[in-house]
Amino acid sequence: MGNWYTGTVKFFLDTANLEELKKGAGWGIVDGVTTNPSLIAKEGRPIEEQVRMICDIVDGDISAEVVATESAAMIREGKNLAKIHKNIVVKCPLTREGIKACKALSSEGLRVNVTLCFSASQALIAAKAGAYIISPFVGRIDDISWNGMDLIRSIVQIYKNYGYTTQILAASLRHPVHVVESAMAGAHIGTMPFKVLDALFNHPLTDKGLDQFLKDWAKVFQETPVGG
Ligand code: E4P
Repeated sequence: MGNWYTGTVKFFLDTANLEELKKGAGWGIVDGVTTNPSLIAKEGRPIEEQVRMICDIVDGDISAEVVATESAAMIREGKNLAKIHKNIVVKCPLTREGIKACKALSSEGLRVNVTLCFSASQALIAAKAGAYIISPFVGRIDDISWNGMDLIRSIVQIYKNYGYTTQILAASLRHPVHVVESAMAGAHIGTMPFKVLDALFNHPLTDKGLDQFLKDWAKVFQETPVGG
């Protein structure tokens, strides 16, 4: 059924910062990148330039968002973004115009990430318009005292009911528990800031255990290393 249970959960970095991307990519666990106009603006370079450099660092889906708000202009902008690199996924907002653009771009074989999704009804619309990815924003829903993870669970259920192949990208993940819970809910992808990816590693018992292993090893082998 569709692309469910392929045995992988994908981690994307939600940043346009090249240093963060290099560090994350160096760990070998980054499958793609999401950017948005705010993240691109933070780096201060034109989007074409910034996104091309991102594509040189991470070999995976790289979302680049249109800033036009009218569908014909979004389509033009989306096509230009897609020309930057084969890995570009065009990001369109979940507006009426954005959905029109998604339908048109998807029909021409371009991959579209529909962003700024805050409800299951919006996620249904995106799937029907042929979106390659839907991006529900978990953290921003939590920010207004609703439950962002419930939305992920609803979308997983609805897409499974009909075998939609649109990938669910849990966005606006703010901490490691968000990442784990979205994987438990069955989201295909979690996108997160670098500091959240970094925090996924942390456990005090890992540090304590390694410290003890190295001390025990040193007591016996410091003077006579193995093979020495
Ligand atoms: C997703 O693609 C967005 O760029 C992002 O996850 C938004 O996260 P924020 O709510 O932390 O800004």
